[in-house]
Amino acid sequence: DRVFFALWPDARVRALLSRTARQMHAQIQGRITAQESMHLTLAFVGAIDPEKCARLLRPPHSVALTPFTLTLDRWGCWTHNEIGWAGPSRTPAALREFVSSLQTWLSDAGFVLDNRAFAPHVTLVKGAHCGELRGLATPIEWAVEGFALVRSLRTSRGSHYEPMRVWNAL
Ligand code: 2AM
Repeated sequence: DRVFFALWPDARVRALLSRTARQMHAQIQGRITAQESMHLTLAFVGAIDPEKCARLLRPPHSVALTPFTLTLDRWGCWTHNEIGWAGPSRTPAALREFVSSLQTWLSDAGFVLDNRAFAPHVTLVKGAHCGELRGLATPIEWAVEGFALVRSLRTSRGSHYEPMRVWNAL
């Protein structure tokens, strides 16, 4: 299993993302992310033992999320990993600051994170034949009020994501 911190959408945002995923799939094929698996990765920890995982369930006070609205108004397809995605054209300061507090905590706690810059996106389609995307659904307004520690389980039907714990903003 692999674990990561993510924004975990509510049912309404999931339904909107799913609709966009179907429109995207009609244009660039691939495999659509299951509606219940849609998420936005904040920090990817990877495969770790249960003891280390227990530490992840107790974030310090410095890791606190201020609610914000995330506007998903960009769509794209990355040829290097064949992913079709939705993302924000503007990353709210509250999101940037939260990710940075997560990264600081995790690296201080000895978890090894990759150095790639944070590129907020929700993967809608995998194994896509990237091409031009046209006429996708209007922007999705996502009222973010919490975050989750998510476990990724590989199954014969692809990855299955399961929130282990959800933290809600005050
Ligand atoms: P993706 O959506 O772009 O595929 C679970 O695998 C989640 O963690 C996915 O959202 C995936 O991003 C992301 N992820 C997988 N491997 C990663 C890595 N090495 N670094 C950062 N994120 C990763």
